[in-house]
Amino acid sequence: MFETLNKTAPDAIVEMIKIAAADTSPKKIDLGVGIYQDEVGATPVMRAVKKAERLWFDEEDSKKYIGIHGNPEFNRLFSELTFGDGAEILTSGRLAVAQSAGGSGALRLGTELIKMANPGTTVWVSTPTWANHTPLIGSTGLPVKPYPYYNKETQTIDFDDMCATLRNEAKPGDVVVLHGCCHNPTGADLSQDQWRIIADLLIEKSLMPFVDLAYTGLGDGLDADTFGLRLLVDKCPELVLATSCSKNFGLYRERTGMVAAIARTPEEADLCRSQIGLIMRRMISMPPDHGAALVAKILSTPDLKADWLSELETMRLRMSGLRQSLAEALSVQGAEQMANAIASQKGMFSLLPVSPEQAEKLRSEHSVYLLNSGRINIAGARAEMIDGLADAILAVL
Ligand code: LMR
Repeated sequence: MFETLNKTAPDAIVEMIKIAAADTSPKKIDLGVGIYQDEVGATPVMRAVKKAERLWFDEEDSKKYIGIHGNPEFNRLFSELTFGDGAEILTSGRLAVAQSAGGSGALRLGTELIKMANPGTTVWVSTPTWANHTPLIGSTGLPVKPYPYYNKETQTIDFDDMCATLRNEAKPGDVVVLHGCCHNPTGADLSQDQWRIIADLLIEKSLMPFVDLAYTGLGDGLDADTFGLRLLVDKCPELVLATSCSKNFGLYRERTGMVAAIARTPEEADLCRSQIGLIMRRMISMPPDHGAALVAKILSTPDLKADWLSELETMRLRMSGLRQSLAEALSVQGAEQMANAIASQKGMFSLLPVSPEQAEKLRSEHSVYLLNSGRINIAGARAEMIDGLADAILAVL
């Protein structure tokens, strides 16, 4: 039967991991996949994670199943971290959460929940958006439509067009995917005023936010990075959240994340909880525990939590320092618009105004690995590479 299958086109991001790894040039600058790299180009296990693993090795006394909603301690502590300690939503009864297999698992569970509740809904995603959003969300069968977000020419957010499209084209009951912080792939985040306008628009048009929050702590800091989410939680009657520990805890391969649904009433939140459990059971039965157990250990142990927060802040500052250096190196050489855009963007990513051909040239002639879309992950650079990187970008432009 398998002769009927077609070979799939390679996934742009997964493929770039392989292509960059194959280049052994000492000049190589790998700005491809969205993983954090330190000042020597390594992605080490975070200190608090290592310590939690040593403790957990002694403490874990069974590998028996936990349950379809995952690790309850993780769900509680990670919800407190995400929504804010003491946040009203935590005790309102309106919140249903489940641990997920990474942020992608959370996106899948959240989309399936939306489909169960309203199979006629359309999901709106930003242009551009994370390369896996449309395939992942679309594979549930729900229609996915784009709303304008970022203008690659002017390197600014197309906020008026975004609002006009959502206002005029989205139907009541549709869902709008919003990047909570560190927009992937552009790094261009909504300002606090823009979040307020979007919140009002969603309410006025009866649209539901689906917040994807995968980079908390890596933009402006943990609390600042949840501003948009927390505002929507306060204002909107319903919301779905997909969040992840891949980047901020460095738990990429452990597949640790959380899906949350906020309903109008505790009764409706119970319905969400039971449906998420059913979807999980049918899909992977139960989420993996190891990463969630480590996060729970870190968040419940004050010195581990303090160490994690301090390392996370070091990572954030390293990335914003690299951004400023790249912006300076580019503005000296006369590319002010690009320099200003890079300096003002947040988190790992920025979208360079290059064509796929120019991106290919950067790879083949300069050993600079970036996606064909022009997306760079600034964490892949090192201080001593910045001038060379700026020269290479300007040479292909
Ligand atoms: C990325 O955007 O590079 C990361 O989120 C990794 C992935 O799976 O795409």
